[in-house]
Amino acid sequence: MFVIYNIILLAVVWAESLYQPYVVGPLDALDTWIQQQDQIAHARILDNIAPFPFDPSARAGAICASPSRAWPDYYYTWTRDSALVINELVSWLIISTDNVTQAHMLAARINHYADFSRHLQKMPDRLLGEAKFMMDGTRFVGSWCNPQTDGPALRAYTAGRYAIYLLDNLKRGVGELVSMIELDLEYVMEAWRRSDGCDIWEEVKGVHYYTVAAQQRAMRMASRLYRRLGNSDTARIYGRVSEEMAGELRKFWNKEQGYIVATLDSNAGDRKPSNLDAQVMLAALHGSDDDEMFGIGSLEMLKTVKRIIRRFEHMYEINRATSTTIGGRQVPMGAAIGRYPEDLYDGTGVSRGNPWSLLTSGLAEYHYRLGLVYANSSGNLSRYLLEVGDRYMARVARHTDRDGTMYEQWNSNTGFGQGAIHLTWSYAAHLAASRARSQLISSLFPNY
Ligand code: NOJ
Ligand code: NOJ
Repeated sequence: MFVIYNIILLAVVWAESLYQPYVVGPLDALDTWIQQQDQIAHARILDNIAPFPFDPSARAGAICASPSRAWPDYYYTWTRDSALVINELVSWLIISTDNVTQAHMLAARINHYADFSRHLQKMPDRLLGEAKFMMDGTRFVGSWCNPQTDGPALRAYTAGRYAIYLLDNLKRGVGELVSMIELDLEYVMEAWRRSDGCDIWEEVKGVHYYTVAAQQRAMRMASRLYRRLGNSDTARIYGRVSEEMAGELRKFWNKEQGYIVATLDSNAGDRKPSNLDAQVMLAALHGSDDDEMFGIGSLEMLKTVKRIIRRFEHMYEINRATSTTIGGRQVPMGAAIGRYPEDLYDGTGVSRGNPWSLLTSGLAEYHYRLGLVYANSSGNLSRYLLEVGDRYMARVARHTDRDGTMYEQWNSNTGFGQGAIHLTWSYAAHLAASRARSQLISSLFPNY
C-alpha cells in the first residue's frame, strides 16, 4: 500500500516537471540574496523581542507581531506568532553547536520568552485561549475573535522541543518548562473539540484543520518529552489523545473537491465557499514530517498545495511576471500566494486580499522539505524540487525591499510591501525556508 502510494506521489510531481522544464543555474545569484536576508531576518526578529529602548513598559520576552502601532496596530503579543517565532529560534539554537556566543544569546531570549509565557499563564482568569495580549503583559480588553486554541498548543510544542534540546545537551533542569507545557495541554485537551474557536486568520468560527493539527503535534511532542523523562504512563496518555486528533484530521480530506479543507462546522457561509486555504499548508510546515497525518510527504497535502498555487496564480496581477533579476541574473519566479481566494483583508482594512510574504516563503519551504523526503530515494526528483522551491524564494526576493524589510503582504498589483511592516512572522518564515533549503542542498551535494 505504502509503495503504491509513493509511486502515485512521484507521478504527480513528475507530471508537473514535464511542463515546467528543469532549469539549472540560478542557485548562486539566489544564494547571495538568501545569505543577506538571513542576517537581516535574524536581527529583525531579535529587535521585536522586548525589552525595548523605545518602550520601557514592554515586558522582557514579549514579542510584538510587528512594531507598527497604527494602520495597522500590530503592537501586541500574539500567542501564535510568538510561539512560531520562538520555534524558529529553537531550530537556530539546535544548529548553532559550534557558536557558543550565539547559543547563549539565543537561549537567553528563549528563556525570557518562557518566563513571559509563565507570567501570562498566571493571570487570574487563566485566559489561555486569548489570541493576543498587551506588550506589558496585561490583558487586551477590546473585542477580538476568541478563543484561538492553536496558540497554547504551538507554545507547548515549542517549549517541548526546547526542553528536549536542554535534556539532550545536559544544559539544565526542565521542571518549569514542563509545568508550563502541562497547563497549556490541559487547556488544549478540554478545548480541542469545541467548534466555537476562531481560525488562525481570526475570522471564522468552527473546527479548523490548522488548529487541530497544531494540537495534535503538541500532544506528540509532549508524548516524546515524557518518554524522555521516563514517565511512560503520561507519555501514553498524550499519545492516545494525539491519535484521536489524527482521526479528526482525516475528516478534512474532501474527496469531491480533491483537497484538504480548512474548516468544518464553519460559520463562514458565503464568505468562504471554497474552503481552500493556505493555512492547511502551514499546518504541514509547523510540525516534523515523520508519519504525521497529512504531512509534507502525503499525497493529500501535495494535491492541496497544488490547488492553492493554481488558484492564486491567475488571481494576482504580479503573478504575470514569471522571471526576475537577482544579482544581475535572470531567474525563474513562481507565483505569490495569499491566505484564501475570497480574502478581503488588505493589511489595514477590507478591500481585497493580497499575496502574503510568509505564505510564499512557506511554499518555498514546502518544496524544499518535499525534496528532503525524496533525497535518498530519488535524487533527480529532489533536485527538481530544489529548483521549484527556488522559484518561490525568488518571488519573495523580488518583493522584499532592497534593505531587506519585509511586510505582511505585497500589493497584488504593484508588488510593494503592504500592511504590517517588519512582521516578525515574515522573517521567521524566511528563515525556516532558508534552513530547509540548506538541508536539502547538503543532502543533495554533500561537498557543496
Ligand atoms: C482582519 C484580518 O482578516 C485578520 O486576519 C486580522 O487578524 C484582523 N483583521 C486584525 O488585523
Ligand atoms: C493577522 C493574521 O491573520 C494572524 O494569523 C496573525 O496572528 C496576526 N495578524 C498577527 O500577526
